[in-house]
Amino acid sequence: MRDRDKSKEELVAEITQLRREMHELKIVHEQYMKTQDQLRESEERFRSLFNSSMDGILLTHISGNVVAANPAVCKMLGQTEEELCRVGRLGIIEVNDERTYHALEERNCTGKFLCELSFVHKDGTPIPVEVSSNVFRDQNNREFASLFVRDIRDRKRYEQEMQRLDRLNIIGQMAAGIGHEVRNPLTTVRGFLQMLSQKPKCSDYKEYLKLMIEELDRANLIITEFLSVAKSSSETMEMIDLNKLIKSISPLIQSDAYRQNNFFLFEEGKIQPIQANAKELRQVILNLSQNGLEAMSSGKTLKISTYMREEKVVLSVQDQGCGIDKNILDKIGTPFLTTKDHGTGLGLAVCYGIARRHNATIEVETSPQGTTFFIEFSGAICYQ
Ligand SMILES: Nc1ncnc2c1ncn2[C@@H]1O[C@H](COP(=O)(O)OP(=O)(O)OP(=O)(O)O)[C@@H](O)[C@H]1O
Ligand SMILES: [Mg+2]
Repeated sequence: MRDRDKSKEELVAEITQLRREMHELKIVHEQYMKTQDQLRESEERFRSLFNSSMDGILLTHISGNVVAANPAVCKMLGQTEEELCRVGRLGIIEVNDERTYHALEERNCTGKFLCELSFVHKDGTPIPVEVSSNVFRDQNNREFASLFVRDIRDRKRYEQEMQRLDRLNIIGQMAAGIGHEVRNPLTTVRGFLQMLSQKPKCSDYKEYLKLMIEELDRANLIITEFLSVAKSSSETMEMIDLNKLIKSISPLIQSDAYRQNNFFLFEEGKIQPIQANAKELRQVILNLSQNGLEAMSSGKTLKISTYMREEKVVLSVQDQGCGIDKNILDKIGTPFLTTKDHGTGLGLAVCYGIARRHNATIEVETSPQGTTFFIEFSGAICYQ
């Protein structure tokens, strides 16, 4: 029927119907636009969550290909998102680590895992991390895995420090018990040996007696050092110019270096005075320098530097020696730990004891090209 042939009522009814449909369409369109806005907002929210998370987040295929990486994980691994997508899992996780294999096995069986693994920085440095991973499907039924990655280097360092302090504590208790008991008979024996060495009847044995006294003195020195490891506070703390103190002992280090055909360099930074015990600081510098020199072949340089790092005074002792073996590094500072034929293994234990009493921290960086010890004096700075 043509519109012309329709009655007025029919036309009004059709127009009303059309209007209703248009109204409904408008509502549907508005709802669609609202849903779109909500979707965009929701995506923006998740995107900013992803971007601002302090933990690293990786989205991967089950095969290990990286689909997305947030800025935190990029920073942690020193790579851009594109680089991570290119290298995939094999370029991120330490491949020879058995834990990786077990974690993936567990995820295959249960759909998730939570464990500690080792990731690798772009420069090859291993990074201990805690990873939680889940497998999920998107709306197109494709399988993905999420990985939440937390850098636990600080936690590991703290745990190691606690273990070291525990060991020191036990040693401290032992030292307090045994030290004095051993020293007393030593003093008595030394006294008699000295008396005998002055008797004409013993003159044939004078050399032996001298040697025995020297050995007793050495044993006594070891006990003194051992006791100093466990001492809880330093006697006299005063404001010290660390640069001046280093310069005062430089000739000693210089001559030791010279004897081994090595060089010694002091890089003096502009630093604030620190509250410290001069005798103990000297001991730390000498022990670290001694170790550095002992680790180097001839023609190399031992360098001591001082500088400020975030308002803290740092002393560093850098050598170009053979580096510290991983097995030793894990236990560094434990008394009597030595790889040297004539070492007592007390040098570093004494340093750690002194650092603890000065509220200072010791950090080590080592490689086959050399070792650097950093001592950072935390809370004992006097702002003059
Ligand atoms: N700068 C270094 N380079 C390489 N290895 C080092 C360095 N410093 C320390 N070490 C390692 O750590 C061990 C412990 O050092 P520590 O100074 O405590 O004892 P030591 O040097 O063996 O004996 P001593 O009691 O005579 O100092 C050393 O035997 C050595 O294996
Ligand atoms: Mg030493």
